[in-house]
Amino acid sequence: MHKKELDTTLVLIKPDALKNSLTGYILSQLSEFNTGLRFAGMKVVQVNRILAEEHYAEHRGKVFYPPLIDYIMGLAHYPNTPDRRRVIAIVYQGPNAVPKIRQIVGSTDPHCAREGQPGSIRALGMIVHLRNEKGEVIGQRMDNLIHASANAADAEREIKLWFKPNDIPPRLHPFPTRQSEKHYYYKVKRLFTCYEPESVCIFAPGDEAWESDLDVLEKIDRGKKPAYPLETVVAKYLSNEARGMNL
Ligand code: CDP
Ligand code: MG
Repeated sequence: MHKKELDTTLVLIKPDALKNSLTGYILSQLSEFNTGLRFAGMKVVQVNRILAEEHYAEHRGKVFYPPLIDYIMGLAHYPNTPDRRRVIAIVYQGPNAVPKIRQIVGSTDPHCAREGQPGSIRALGMIVHLRNEKGEVIGQRMDNLIHASANAADAEREIKLWFKPNDIPPRLHPFPTRQSEKHYYYKVKRLFTCYEPESVCIFAPGDEAWESDLDVLEKIDRGKKPAYPLETVVAKYLSNEARGMNL
């Protein structure tokens, strides 16, 4: 099978779905029996702020962006129980993976999903009114249970953002990888090639990386403008990493 034939998409089962015990329902809606798609990767992620902000970078500056970040980090649904703040991230693979899953997921707005496509997953979501200290409504948040990549370019960006190459079996890798020839360390928004106290080692020589991630690190190391931000590379190496949790 040629790698280009591996249509791939990212699904996130969001914290409201976990809280409402809808994980099993969502997985059965997206099963191979219903979609013809297969799992290529799956992980439980405690989402830190870097990952949340990179995932929703296109919405930076919009009114719903701050509540959206709280939502995907689990702060909205688990304010007092940090250990329960999780997202399940899944890579599905097979013909037309992106449109097939978007179709089953339904409209972004749960009210529209209920009206237009009652059997869709987001038809089970809700709109939450956000209030200030006086109880006045100051906005709303769409708790729509699930994220699914909107197109192939988003899917590539998002899968590389959430998954390391070795989270996915090598034969199912949807994008090129290569081995790092250097050490790379990350500490407060900066990249280092030698160990710095309190830095996190992102790559050691020989570690398998997304080729485009290494291109980004090499450009930054040479003082050139990278194709995407350093945070997009490091987010997945800091999530589920004790030192990365408060970022
Ligand atoms: O998730 P999708 O690609 O369908 O929609 P989006 O426009 O990329 O928005 C990302 C997420 O932000 C949505 O899934 C909603 O959870 C949230 N959102 C919101 O809370 N209020 C809005 N007015 C729009 C989006
Ligand atoms: Mg979107």
